[in-house]
Amino acid sequence: MTTVKICSGTLCYVMGGSELWTLPEALPAELKDRVTVKGSPCLGYCNNEKPVKAPYVEVNGKVIREASVSKIIEVIKDEIGGK
Ligand code: FES
Repeated sequence: MTTVKICSGTLCYVMGGSELWTLPEALPAELKDRVTVKGSPCLGYCNNEKPVKAPYVEVNGKVIREASVSKIIEVIKDEIGGK
């Protein structure tokens, strides 16, 4: 199972993270039952990286910067394809 963690901390949320919640519907049918999408409190990147590239998302623990739904789907495909 591939796990997607969407940062729900304030900074990520206001910098576009709120829109990432369309991901579950946007997932291609063949990926839907292979992916778990959950929210997370601040992942810490916003404090540790300059410049800040929010919103941050983790896919199986790998960080995606300036995440968008399409970027996340690409990374999920890589993850699933690589196993
Ligand atoms: S609010 Fe997302 S990493 Fe801090």
